[in-house]
Amino acid sequence: MTGDPRVTGEAAVTGPSPVTGEAAVTGEAAVAGEAAVTGEAAVTGEAPLTGEAAVTGDRDVHYLLGHAPDELDRLDLQGEVFRDATLRAFDDAGIQPGMRVLDIGCGSGDVSMTVATWVGEHGAVVGIDREARAVHAARIRAEHGGVGIEFHCSDIESFVDDQPFDAVVGRFVLMHQPRPAEVLHAVATRLRRGGVVCMIETYMQGLLSGAHSEPHSVVYDRIVQWKGRVVGGAGADCAAGARLPAIFAEAGLPRPATRMHAHLVSDPAGLYFEFLERSLASMQPDAARQGIDGLTCDDPAEVIGQLRDEVARSGGALLTWPVVAAWCRV
Ligand SMILES: C[S@@+](CC[C@H](N)C(=O)[O-])C[C@H]1O[C@@H](n2cnc3c(N)ncnc32)[C@H](O)[C@@H]1O
Repeated sequence: MTGDPRVTGEAAVTGPSPVTGEAAVTGEAAVAGEAAVTGEAAVTGEAPLTGEAAVTGDRDVHYLLGHAPDELDRLDLQGEVFRDATLRAFDDAGIQPGMRVLDIGCGSGDVSMTVATWVGEHGAVVGIDREARAVHAARIRAEHGGVGIEFHCSDIESFVDDQPFDAVVGRFVLMHQPRPAEVLHAVATRLRRGGVVCMIETYMQGLLSGAHSEPHSVVYDRIVQWKGRVVGGAGADCAAGARLPAIFAEAGLPRPATRMHAHLVSDPAGLYFEFLERSLASMQPDAARQGIDGLTCDDPAEVIGQLRDEVARSGGALLTWPVVAAWCRV
């Protein structure tokens, strides 16, 4: 199980085994900071989750991208872009064949399908999302893929099941919660003692420092700034990845181990460029609603065409959106 070569495509940069977690995957470490692995190893055995989750921020958040068919397709593409980060997170977190796993905020089911393959035929996966259209799309996808997954339309906090789970996973979900620690606390109570919590969140703000491209890409900078404004303006937390340790602590969970993951992409025909184009297109309605003018993002295809030309001309590389995985046992 390796990453999509169209995304990674940079063997010299990312190393040969993005999933197995060879500790120092050289290029990544140099670029995106394996140094971010700060947490202690998973903790087991202590009384799970008796404390109330401390709640900090109470942001006004809505899921800015909606659930139209185009957006569900974009979620599939996003799944491909972040597949190797996701697989590595499962590996790091100790998700094993045979486990029963809950996927919170499953969207169109990419994480559910990925973890279902990971846990195998003796495992089981339940995916939940509050959006009926997403759940419908996820069911169809899983049926087509021949993967047996149970999907439910439910808010995360109110979801109950009569059996405990061995693991709970979630990707790009806590960033959309007004009270992420409360949500995390609630889902962790659905776990058996010693169960695994594994969350993957974006660290978009990690790209705002100006170190996102070499040589500096003016077009990428405009895209990064614009996306950050639109996502942040919708109330989502663009730094949720970096805040995961704090969110775990507020949720009353053990200190998580963490890993940050990104690639350097240099192939203008690569999947990351397509993903960027689809993201810009999906965000247009929300940008308009927020009154954020489009820069040149009125025409995503044109902007991404400019980006491709720029990268092709310079022979340079872009740092992809960093994601952070955090995991512990309860
Ligand atoms: C950015 S999408 C991520 C989808 C999927 N995890 C993935 O990585 O492809 C976030 C999803 O979480 C769902 N969601 C957000 N907050 C939720 C909540 N409180 N309860 C249930 N679903 C939620 C949204 O409806 C949306 O489908």
